[in-house]
Amino acid sequence: MEIINLIKSRRSIRRFSQEKLDRNFLIELVDAARCAPAGANIQSLEYVVVDEPQVCDKVFDCLAWAGHVKPKRNPLPNQRPTAYIVVLSDTEIKKDAHVDAASAIENILLAAWGKGVGSCWLGSVDRIKLLGILNIGEKYQIDSVVALGKPAETPVMEDAGEGTKYYLDDKDVLHVPKRPLKKILHINKFGK
Ligand SMILES: Cc1cc2nc3c(=O)[nH]c(=O)nc-3n(C[C@H](O)[C@H](O)[C@H](O)COP(=O)(O)O)c2cc1C
Repeated sequence: MEIINLIKSRRSIRRFSQEKLDRNFLIELVDAARCAPAGANIQSLEYVVVDEPQVCDKVFDCLAWAGHVKPKRNPLPNQRPTAYIVVLSDTEIKKDAHVDAASAIENILLAAWGKGVGSCWLGSVDRIKLLGILNIGEKYQIDSVVALGKPAETPVMEDAGEGTKYYLDDKDVLHVPKRPLKKILHINKFGK
């Protein structure tokens, strides 16, 4: 797929088929994250790949899903992600690596989607619990968790009207409103 179409067609996925992902593929996603831009090229990010079912269950218990349609997009036991990448920052290298993490995470989402693998970026994470579960050292902060798996839903993007809250229609399809280009684009100067 052309990169621009890949970017536009990626949607957050919260229902997954239970097909396992190859460990090497997950490592390749971290390799893609590693290549992302970082402020001053100071790289504080590290990654924990989780693909063992017992550990996946523990990670799942630390996450909160789709607040606007809660609890309708909480994955059921047979819809859960089959892997996770936990994105960490070493606070001794950089105090605030949130923007660096965002650029690395977007690489993960797009590299995954390029191979037909769905993802959801999760910021609602019980970080203290997850640090303990994964035995992560004190100098690290958990930035985000990326949930991964083969998609079992097909959300649709649409132009937003007044609001931007995603919603479910009567067929249980998730709609994701994005602000229309004409509302956010300015050329050569700000304004109409
Ligand atoms: C910083 C950040 C944190 C997010 N945290 C969560 C989360 O905790 N739970 C969740 O279900 N989705 C989360 N999302 C996914 C957003 O809800 C999703 O990106 C948004 O609704 C737009 O949908 P799209 O990704 O399909 O374009 C997060 C996204 C970002 C960028």
